[in-house]
Amino acid sequence: MNILNRIREEVEVIRDRDPAARNSVEILLTYSGLHAVLAYRLSHKLLLHHKPTLARIVSQTARFFTGIEIHPGARIGRRLFIDHGMGVVIGETAVVGDDCTIYQGVTLGGTGKDHGKRHPSLGNNVTVGSGAKVLGPFHVGDNAKIAAGAVVLKEVPANATAVGVPARVVRMNGVRVQDLDQINIPDPVAAQLSELTTRIEVLEARTAAQEKPKRAPRRKKTES
Ligand SMILES: CC(C)(COP(=O)(O)OP(=O)(O)OC[C@H]1O[C@@H](n2cnc3c(N)ncnc32)[C@H](O)[C@@H]1OP(=O)(O)O)[C@@H](O)C(=O)NCCC(=O)NCCS
Repeated sequence: MNILNRIREEVEVIRDRDPAARNSVEILLTYSGLHAVLAYRLSHKLLLHHKPTLARIVSQTARFFTGIEIHPGARIGRRLFIDHGMGVVIGETAVVGDDCTIYQGVTLGGTGKDHGKRHPSLGNNVTVGSGAKVLGPFHVGDNAKIAAGAVVLKEVPANATAVGVPARVVRMNGVRVQDLDQINIPDPVAAQLSELTTRIEVLEARTAAQEKPKRAPRRKKTES
């Protein structure tokens, strides 16, 4: 695909996904998400052609103008839509599949604890809501939705919705997932046993009380 068709494709995506987008010229001139993605495509090419410093200069210049930082080493699929954009950071070893949507303030970053692959990999058609932080070298499955403000620290399955801090999966294929504490799982058998033990203890105490020999009534000392 030549560069003009690529740009056309990126513009089409914005027209499709942003109800506020009016026409292609406006998108081309005013959408900072588009500018950042185009600058990334150039910086990534420069990196592949062993021009790392030039690549960084391009990406940092794009960051200056758009507020969006995409490391040239990241691998980004086709038709990425970064809406609003300001404050987006995509790390060096991050991977973004095709048809993803990322809102402002999103970080695809590392936790600071990993070496080598440190950043997440998003599958295809993943949405990451505004302000969400996805931190660590794990996978987010196809069609997953990360809620605005979520902090995702572990793998998210395909077709899941993850919300909260730390993020938990609340929907799978649009169906509600029951909140289950995976550590303190209720155990009905143990609960029954505990109840029975308590009843036995009560009964034992009662029986023991009944079996106790009754003390003979004290004789009154007779006065001499
Ligand atoms: C998560 C989101 C993608 C919706 O996904 P969905 O699969 O349709 O999920 P639902 O709307 O059915 O919500 C699922 C549950 O998560 C909760 N939820 C949704 N968004 C949430 C959020 N950001 N934080 C915490 N909980 C959230 C809902 O209240 C619902 O709770 P319930 O199970 O108690 O009913 C959407 O809420 C969201 O956050 N989109 C980001 C959009 C954005 O960033 N816009 C910025 C535009 S400028």
